[in-house]
Amino acid sequence: MKQDFLNYIKKEFDFSDEEMTQFEKACIMPLKKSIRVNTNKISIEDFKKTALKNNWQLTETSLWSNTFYIDRFDDLDTALWNTQEHQKGYFYVQELAASSSPYYMSGDKVDHSQYVILDMSASPGGKTTQLSEYYPDSIIVANEINKERFKWLFFNLDRMWVLNVVCTNYDGRFFKETPELFDKVLLDAPCSWEWTAYKTDDSLKYRNIKNIKSISKLQLSLIDSAVKTLKVWWELVYSTCTLNKLENEWVVEAILERYKDSLEIIPDYIRSWPHITHTWWFFVAKIKKIKSIVEQEKKAIYSRNSMFDVKMEKKNRFSQVNKDVVQNYEKLSSKDTKIIEKYIDDNYNFQIQSKKFYRYKDDIFITDMDISDLRKKLFMYKIGVNIWKYKNNEFVPSDYLESLR
Ligand SMILES: C[S@@+](CC[C@H](N)C(=O)[O-])C[C@H]1O[C@@H](n2cnc3c(N)ncnc32)[C@H](O)[C@@H]1O
Repeated sequence: MKQDFLNYIKKEFDFSDEEMTQFEKACIMPLKKSIRVNTNKISIEDFKKTALKNNWQLTETSLWSNTFYIDRFDDLDTALWNTQEHQKGYFYVQELAASSSPYYMSGDKVDHSQYVILDMSASPGGKTTQLSEYYPDSIIVANEINKERFKWLFFNLDRMWVLNVVCTNYDGRFFKETPELFDKVLLDAPCSWEWTAYKTDDSLKYRNIKNIKSISKLQLSLIDSAVKTLKVWWELVYSTCTLNKLENEWVVEAILERYKDSLEIIPDYIRSWPHITHTWWFFVAKIKKIKSIVEQEKKAIYSRNSMFDVKMEKKNRFSQVNKDVVQNYEKLSSKDTKIIEKYIDDNYNFQIQSKKFYRYKDDIFITDMDISDLRKKLFMYKIGVNIWKYKNNEFVPSDYLESLR
């Protein structure tokens, strides 16, 4: 492993030689494979039966519910993500520590409140799909800046039958323009990828402090945007899968310092370590907003500038939220809605009541959320699950809908 990385860890975390040896050893040990069962699609009991049939041995992790270590005694030529059960959306292959931020947000409990939740950097959707299970009655906005990475996010949302998520394509820094819109925000931040050292030392070859500093600045801008779009009295979870303090403690401390009167850390940072938790390294912090930042900012502007500048700045800052966004996705006509409802009622075993349908070009989507208010503010690239294609003047059910038979 790259020596300056190891030197950094030893110095920054004050590890003894013995602990350093344990750390290095743990870093090159293969991690146990873990999966999270998707209860949107299958009960834990039925999944256990399926696993038994496939010769998969499941062991409870004792950390979070619905998460298991998996040992396979079947055809290993087929990768786990390529098995029928994965395609059908029965589970998500997810490293244990990487799944910790949604668990910390929810306290590992299903909450039926109707929140509006932002997952600011969502692709490929591991944590989005988790959030949807913890908050089944909330609207979750899964944002991803990189459209290339949409395909994994869309695939996971569709196969796992995640009806309460809409996708957007903003730079996360945009959300400061929608102040106090969300009840909860998850910022699983883009980071310097130190974690891939598990897969290959190559990532550490390119690890350099200049790069880390510039990522850390981006993370600070993203967390700034996150706390602005968070409602007062609600919580933000910040996480990274990287070890260095510049991308973790430094970012959190800088934002707490910037908005001293408005933010509180609860209760402390959480770090996973390969030689302690036998997982990836991972960092999670939870921040509560106790006072509006918008009001503070307005006051600061008033005291700094002339009245003219104040008006201009306020106009620029809030202009985007004041006009309704024009959407690509349209509500499905009532004639087509009736056709679909009847078809679903006749052929599938799920409740069609209170579902809403949207159409984009030749694709039809289903959600169980009322997203009309949010549609005025955010431009959407996907709403719920893609259930239908409109081909040669006929409706053709998608594979995702078919998987429910
Ligand atoms: C750590 S990954 C997210 C993993 C995801 N939360 C999951 O659990 O599957 C970080 C993501 O942030 C995205 N990203 C990078 N810069 C961004 C920005 N400025 N705004 C929003 N997302 C960004 C990357 O494209 C990447 O998909």
